Amino acid sequence: MEERKVALVTGATRGIGKAIALELADNGYDIVLNYRSVNDELKQTQKEIEEKNVNCFLVYGDISKFEDCENIAKQAIDEFGRIDVLVNNAGITRDGLIMRMKKEDFESVIDTNLTGTFNMTRNIVPFMIKQKNGRIINLSSVVGITGNAGQTNYSASKAGVIGFTKSLAKEVASRNILVNAIAPGFIETDMTKVLSDNVKEAILNQIPLKRMGEAKEVAKLVKFLVSDDSKYITGQVINVDGGMVM
Ligand SMILES: NC(=O)c1ccc[n+]([C@@H]2O[C@H](COP(=O)([O-])OP(=O)(O)OC[C@H]3O[C@@H](n4cnc5c(N)ncnc54)[C@H](OP(=O)(O)O)[C@@H]3O)[C@@H](O)[C@H]2O)c1
Repeated sequence: MEERKVALVTGATRGIGKAIALELADNGYDIVLNYRSVNDELKQTQKEIEEKNVNCFLVYGDISKFEDCENIAKQAIDEFGRIDVLVNNAGITRDGLIMRMKKEDFESVIDTNLTGTFNMTRNIVPFMIKQKNGRIINLSSVVGITGNAGQTNYSASKAGVIGFTKSLAKEVASRNILVNAIAPGFIETDMTKVLSDNVKEAILNQIPLKRMGEAKEVAKLVKFLVSDDSKYITGQVINVDGGMVM
């Protein structure tokens, strides 16, 4: 019998990360679910994954800390002996105009979204090289392409993720590791719930499909990017944004 594949998803307790973990579980992957906060959402997500008859291994870790990512990778490998897919999903926003943005707000966003992506990838790639295969999917954002007033920190981090993705794709292609980025537009999660009605309306006006996206619509792209159907695709940034950025 073929061994089950394993996917590690960071920040997978809620939002897009949860939808990705569920989608991969639906496709028969055992899940390494990285979390930072212990709460009911964590238990609920674990339950929903296990109901799909796959293993769900919970690993605590703050991805902005290199040593936490070392530990996440070690625990995942000790448990399953393989990692086929890494989804660098965990991310935060600390929005504000530059004149009011605190240095800590700039640094925490870069440390989580960009350095966190490095921290996790740096600790997983050696195993993928040994396996001679792997898929890495990094969550960027359309604002990493277009920029956005009030998000210098976030846009810089997500533009950084794009440069990171393309460089890594070139480095590890010969090892049969594919690396791509997804740039979601405006997706319905806790991250966008906090926006005011005025801001939401202004954003909706920029979306040709005239609605917010659903987390599972991002997860469907991940499903494609880990499948055999995408084995000639690497170093790409694919938007899931209802046509917001063309
Ligand atoms: N929603 C959108 O419209 C949108 C658009 C473009 C890109 N994205 C990107 O898509 C990804 C997921 O977004 P989302 O909307 O699902 O966000 P979300 O609902 O706010 O969830 C973020 C998840 O990341 C986790 N996380 C944050 N910092 C972490 C850290 N240092 N270590 C470990 N986990 C951490 C959170 O854990 P806690 O529960 O502990 O906070 C949470 O599980 C992010 O990278 C985001 O930038 C989202």
